[in-house]
Amino acid sequence: MKMAKKPWGGRFARGTEQEVEAFTSSLDFDQRLYRQDIAGSQAHARMLARQGIISPAEAEEIVRGLEEIRGEIDSGEFFFDPALEDIHMAIEARLTEKIGEAGRKLHTARSRNDQVALDVRLFLAGAVEALLEDIQNLRRAGARLARRHLGVMLPGYTHLQRAQPVLFSHHLLAYDEMWRRDQARLKESLARIRVSPLGAAALAGTTFPIDPEFTGSQMGFPEVFRNSLDAVSDRDFLLEFLAHSSIIMVHLSRLAEELIIWSGAEFGFVVLPDAYATGSSIMPQKKNPDVPELIRGKSGRVCGHLLGLLMTLKGLPLAYNRDLQEDKEPLFDTLDTVQGAVRLMTGLLGQLQIRPEGMAAALHGGFLTATDMADYLAAKGIPFRTAHEQVGQTVRQAEAQNKELWELSLEEIRKFAPQADADLFEWLKIENSVARRTSPGGTAPARVAEALALVEKELGIEVAGAE
Ligand code: ARG
Repeated sequence: MKMAKKPWGGRFARGTEQEVEAFTSSLDFDQRLYRQDIAGSQAHARMLARQGIISPAEAEEIVRGLEEIRGEIDSGEFFFDPALEDIHMAIEARLTEKIGEAGRKLHTARSRNDQVALDVRLFLAGAVEALLEDIQNLRRAGARLARRHLGVMLPGYTHLQRAQPVLFSHHLLAYDEMWRRDQARLKESLARIRVSPLGAAALAGTTFPIDPEFTGSQMGFPEVFRNSLDAVSDRDFLLEFLAHSSIIMVHLSRLAEELIIWSGAEFGFVVLPDAYATGSSIMPQKKNPDVPELIRGKSGRVCGHLLGLLMTLKGLPLAYNRDLQEDKEPLFDTLDTVQGAVRLMTGLLGQLQIRPEGMAAALHGGFLTATDMADYLAAKGIPFRTAHEQVGQTVRQAEAQNKELWELSLEEIRKFAPQADADLFEWLKIENSVARRTSPGGTAPARVAEALALVEKELGIEVAGAE
């Protein structure tokens, strides 16, 4: 029985069962919040002194004691006593051990309920900033790859069937759009993360003349809670983060999937860097795309965390419930997973080798310029539906003869498309198909060059030789 240690032990005649302690403790994982917990407590102590609730000397002792504890934890000499439930109690107990009575005053006008909400918000704000930078680096790697291979063509797909030729850089810039939105979502969510809940106390506010604006501003939070019940029970900001992270992972998973199929012999569009692939323990010839596979695979656990926390929250009455302690592991695991996935994809793109010859080979045999022929006829005034029909018949003919469209003679083509002239053959060329798609956001080299230059400017990338 270690009841003397429990800061809430006063009401209890008996100590806690060991099993209960193990089941309820969060110390193993929430020690990751120690910096935030200490910063929040220091701000709280300063506020208490400013408001005349404790003396300036007491506040100073508290701030200094906490500073020392940070050093102890940083250096690994701090003893995390499993009897002490969570990081908040572990730090407070050590503080009292160090400075005595003043330490016992720190928790005045505060509860672990508003304390933990602040810690998590502080932690997440920092994590989101770091993740934004990681995504910026990912975008840079993508933009550099797009610049390096500007002009290379490959089939664009719908239904995973070859559809129309596009520029490889255009394909990559599609991912840049996703990443730009990922950044925008994260950035925008910061405003809802940086709302200080400190001062809500347990649930109803406090009888002390506190100044939540002051503690909030000490934390760099521009806003303060408006309702104490909400402040201690709201985890929307975490749900948002898990949702945004799920979307990021889904984006990465789609790219990972493409890299996996592109690196296989059936496609042969890319060669994965050795440093990002692994071998087989039995088949000596294998080079497996484990990194993109795991990025794809790990998207499942992140999406799972989102669902998990939604389920944790759905039946909770106001205000704080211990269930909320279940918010931390999904948060930490999501952050580690997303950060890892973003960084590995960045490294992989940086070393990815392209096989333009493999891409070029796939441009043949699929009648990829059939739409161009239909456009050609429609531009002559033939209704598009009619043109579509005529081209369909022409394709059938070419297929039967095992030929490309441009290998048919004009006479053969005219059997199905009487208005066709010799200039049609210009329209059937793959490179002209790409070059003609100059509509806004299209794949024409001039458009892609524009789009890439814009992205490079956004990312602060200097391009040698660019005007
Ligand atoms: N470890 C707790 C959590 O993560 C801290 C808050 C505990 N509050 C309480 N009333 N038991 O949620």
